[in-house]
Amino acid sequence: MSDNRAIGVFDSGLGGLTVAREIMKLLPNENIVYFGDTGRVPYGTKGRETIRKYALQDEQFLLSHNVKMIVAACGTVSSVAADTAEALPVPFVEVVSHSVRAAVKATKNGKIGILATTATINSGAHKKQILKLLPKAEVVEASGTLLVPIVEEGWTSIDDAVAIETLRRYLKPMVDARIDTLILGCTHFPVLSSIIRNVLGNGVTLINMGEATANAIDKMLKAGNSLNDGKKTAEYKFYASDKTKSFEKTVKILLGNYDKNFHIEQVDIEKV
Ligand code: DGL
Repeated sequence: MSDNRAIGVFDSGLGGLTVAREIMKLLPNENIVYFGDTGRVPYGTKGRETIRKYALQDEQFLLSHNVKMIVAACGTVSSVAADTAEALPVPFVEVVSHSVRAAVKATKNGKIGILATTATINSGAHKKQILKLLPKAEVVEASGTLLVPIVEEGWTSIDDAVAIETLRRYLKPMVDARIDTLILGCTHFPVLSSIIRNVLGNGVTLINMGEATANAIDKMLKAGNSLNDGKKTAEYKFYASDKTKSFEKTVKILLGNYDKNFHIEQVDIEKV
């Protein structure tokens, strides 16, 4: 059996393209419909009720595209509003539990760091799940609020003084605690991996939530016999609630080599 409907992916903005890119890499046959709520980003500094309201609208938008699965690529939605998916008629995938499992598997000394948005850290979602799987774990958390605009500004090269200094500050408690595993709990952070590695040292495993989630999606689709085994090249459709001046530059940073023929359509998400 096969299912050629698209996988629906949504995020508070363009950051979720780092998750979409991992799905494209691992599952090149899968069609994808992506929605980025660029008109209302960031979610990570907002309150729970607002994030839940936005997540429900984003999910409805994807459902209207007849998707076979909905992926909340957003660390914030996955931590704060995963319950909005309870009534969905299609399987729902979030990014927290898969990253947590990968981190628990990777750690040797039980010291795990989480770098994410303020809303994600305040929710305690990663910490609770880690302690359930590994009760003796030591969890060190930091909200990296400034890193989102830094990535969107394109200050991501390995020698960028602002990115290096900002990461040094955020990661200091993790260096002091000698973590051996760090969950990159926000869509934008994989782009900063090289700098993070330099700050933390080579002994620390970085968990990319996009990779962990793509692996989980692969398993779920295989188990449900719902991979797309059609012969046509996969189709990607991108929608956003606003187009900004630096849009294309940001897409290039986040989507990497998958940005060819990238075309985005603007939608009024409030009307969904
Ligand atoms: N996509 C968000 C996340 O992964 C980061 C940007 C935001 O704050 O909305 O948490």
